[in-house]
Amino acid sequence: MKTISSGLSRFIQYFSALLVVVLLGGCNLDTRMSTFVTKGPIAEEQLSLFMITVWVTFGIFIVVGGVYVVAIIKFRERPNDDRPMPSQGHGNPLVEIGLIGASVLLLVVIAVPTLKAIWFTHDTPDDPESRLGSWYGGEELAEEEADNPLIIKVIGYQWWWAFEYPQLGITTANEMVIPAGKVVHLELRSVDVIHSFWLPRIAGKVDLIPGRTNSMWIQAGDNFIKWKEKQGLEGEGPELRSNYASYLEEEIHNYYYGQCAEFCGDSHARMLFRATAVSDEEFEEWVIDERTGHGTPDGKSWDDWYAAYDKNPEQLTGDLNEGLKLFMSRAKCATCHVVKGNPRALGVAGPNLTNVGSRMSIAAGWLNHRNEEDGSIDAEQQYDNFFKWIHETDVVKPGNLMWKANGGGIGELIDENGDPDLLTEEEIHKISLYLQSLK
Ligand code: CUA
Repeated sequence: MKTISSGLSRFIQYFSALLVVVLLGGCNLDTRMSTFVTKGPIAEEQLSLFMITVWVTFGIFIVVGGVYVVAIIKFRERPNDDRPMPSQGHGNPLVEIGLIGASVLLLVVIAVPTLKAIWFTHDTPDDPESRLGSWYGGEELAEEEADNPLIIKVIGYQWWWAFEYPQLGITTANEMVIPAGKVVHLELRSVDVIHSFWLPRIAGKVDLIPGRTNSMWIQAGDNFIKWKEKQGLEGEGPELRSNYASYLEEEIHNYYYGQCAEFCGDSHARMLFRATAVSDEEFEEWVIDERTGHGTPDGKSWDDWYAAYDKNPEQLTGDLNEGLKLFMSRAKCATCHVVKGNPRALGVAGPNLTNVGSRMSIAAGWLNHRNEEDGSIDAEQQYDNFFKWIHETDVVKPGNLMWKANGGGIGELIDENGDPDLLTEEEIHKISLYLQSLK
């Protein structure tokens, strides 16, 4: 008797602990990677499909669980029970056909919205207001580009993301920038293994598969028509437009957290990414910034800078010049990284570093320097992150190519005798300052 009651009380303890966890979990659905607080039509569709499934299965749970509980309470054996064995019914056509019919019906109830959602999320809609030509005034666009929505090629690498904007001729890494309220068409590829694009509040998930291009579309926030519909508003007019603009500004304009959602090797868990949804004007400014790229640290033309670098590099003084010289020479950064503007930094094996100093994180979102209060960059943290990343790349992201690249990575630098000759702290300091200045 004693063991039964202690077993029972332990069960009650476990059960209440579980209950507390479940209830507390329910209190905080509004986390930055929540799929319950949606910010766009795709995530919304996926959430409503999820809820339909939850309610159907909850109904099944209640019916089956209820019958089960009634059975074990009403028909359990009691002390000195002399009731006869109940009749062992089976093969009742009404019950069997009824159960099969109910199962089929429930499957149909789930299948119809599932198929609808699959088509909805797969086919990029032709929303006139999302056509590039209708909102993007950055430059003359070819007709077929103007008629399409913004296209972003998402390319997965172990363990970072490249985002190419083919219509605009720019490439960035790990932090994509998208216009709020506009449909964006994504083409997803991988250069190595299978990755998965997951931006929980906006959309997810679609795999990036080597040798094939998958596609999906995303949209941060609703378009004008959908927004009016939800608000119960009709018509056109500057006032409605301005209310719609404030909706985008207040509810959608934000920094969204994404993650690779398919196991892809050592540092899969550290393959994060970000998406910033901005206004049309900010988007245009960002594109111009990305296209312009960077000049030299001291304002010389690149031709003059390289003339000095090739003949008398010691003329190029100051921390930023020293950092850039290391970037181009001993540290071999330019072999793998592009810095727009710099005519000799053309490597494509690693992330594009144009404006890397303006990003809120480095190392594919793993080293973060965004001030969560006001969304600004914490410059000290940013410096520390650059330093840490270059200093112990292998610790920050185990298995990554920058550290060991079969005789090329910074973890394999050697001197003329073949002895290890890693970057010194002084050198890393200068490279970090240089990278931080790329904004
Ligand atoms: Cu890429 Cu997991």
